[in-house]
Amino acid sequence: MNFHLSAEHEMIRKMVREFAKNEVEPTAAIRDEEERFDRTIFDQMASLGLTGIPWSEEYGGIGSDYLAYVIAVEELSRVCASTGVTLSAHTSLAGWPIYTFGTEEQKQKYLRPMAEGTKMGAYGLTEPNSGSDAASMRTTAVRNGDHYVLNGSKIFITNGGEADIYVVFALTDPSSKHKGTTAFIIEKDTPGFSVGKKESKLGIRSSLTTEIIFEDCNVPVENVLGVENEGFKIAMQTLDGGRNGIAAQAVGIAQGALDAAVSYAKERHQFGKPIIQQQGIAFKLADMATSVEAARLLTYQAAWLESQGLPYGKQSAMSKLFAGDIAMQVTTEAVQVFGGYGYTRDYPVERYMRDAKITQIYEGTQEIQRLVISRML
Ligand code: CAA
Repeated sequence: MNFHLSAEHEMIRKMVREFAKNEVEPTAAIRDEEERFDRTIFDQMASLGLTGIPWSEEYGGIGSDYLAYVIAVEELSRVCASTGVTLSAHTSLAGWPIYTFGTEEQKQKYLRPMAEGTKMGAYGLTEPNSGSDAASMRTTAVRNGDHYVLNGSKIFITNGGEADIYVVFALTDPSSKHKGTTAFIIEKDTPGFSVGKKESKLGIRSSLTTEIIFEDCNVPVENVLGVENEGFKIAMQTLDGGRNGIAAQAVGIAQGALDAAVSYAKERHQFGKPIIQQQGIAFKLADMATSVEAARLLTYQAAWLESQGLPYGKQSAMSKLFAGDIAMQVTTEAVQVFGGYGYTRDYPVERYMRDAKITQIYEGTQEIQRLVISRML
């Protein structure tokens, strides 16, 4: 075994860390405060090749792998979890299914501009009455000549409104539930497509989360992704990899909170010495550091398996489950290390704690991860 990152992976980490520090971190707190999504950050990521990390050059990517991609999401999330999830949803939830199931024409038309970052992607599965029970969706797609007519709505769509390309799931045979679900690629300017409510959130406030609405939305037959009525498996397989992107986000959030807590504990003096020399704080930091390292190893393992073309669904659910819980614990402890100051917006740890919570909820709650893992035991 070799636990060292390759020179290519180290280079990507260094590049993203510098970019995150210089271009993302300085505005992270104010964007959070103002709930403001900044497209120029996505554009800058595009110019660095980050919007197409795992895709081959023939599809506009940089031809690297899933490990490089999770390293990028981790480094971004270390300073701004909103930027981390913007890239994660774009890459694993929208790019991956097109890369994996798309025709050559679909890849050139949709994946290429997404990988190059001139277009942004999003994924639409969840509905008001269909969350954990994804198969209970109600959005319909009725064939009418060379089009499908979609009606319904999807909620909690990361990148909603800003995204140009949406991978959306709808019922083409409602009586067959998941066996009658089809995946579609939908462009933002398709007549009948609109963006609804923008959510105001506890955390990841500078990422977009919106409703998307289909009212007699005409989608050409050639925009079916994969095979008609086989879309549920596409949705599930997409989440298998997407969940590891969220694990990477969680690792980044936890590492960012740990970094802040360690440096504060070295500077803050109480009872005549830095609080890092007080065993109560020192042991807390030791536990936090150990947890982050374990979560990172699970996350990298799942990404490595995917890059090798080996089964990774179970490890991905495990990494998301473990890293999400670790992120919540570590950020909560980081606030504790800061004491009263940690509870204020003068320091970043309260933001990390608010951001961490979503990693236990989206791309399948922790309870759903346990369901997925236990079914594979
Ligand atoms: N890969 C391939 N096929 C899969 C699969 C996978 N990972 N998981 C399930 N399937 C297949 C099954 O084999 C089965 O196929 P057959 O009918 O041919 O046998 C079919 O899908 C149905 O599977 P189940 O019987 O297991 O379905 P279920 O209804 O009991 O449960 C579930 C499925 C795992 C609970 C699923 O509903 C689920 O993952 N729910 C959580 C949804 C979720 O994660 N939502 C997140 C939304 S996206 C998001 O959050 C994005 C964001 O903002 C960042």
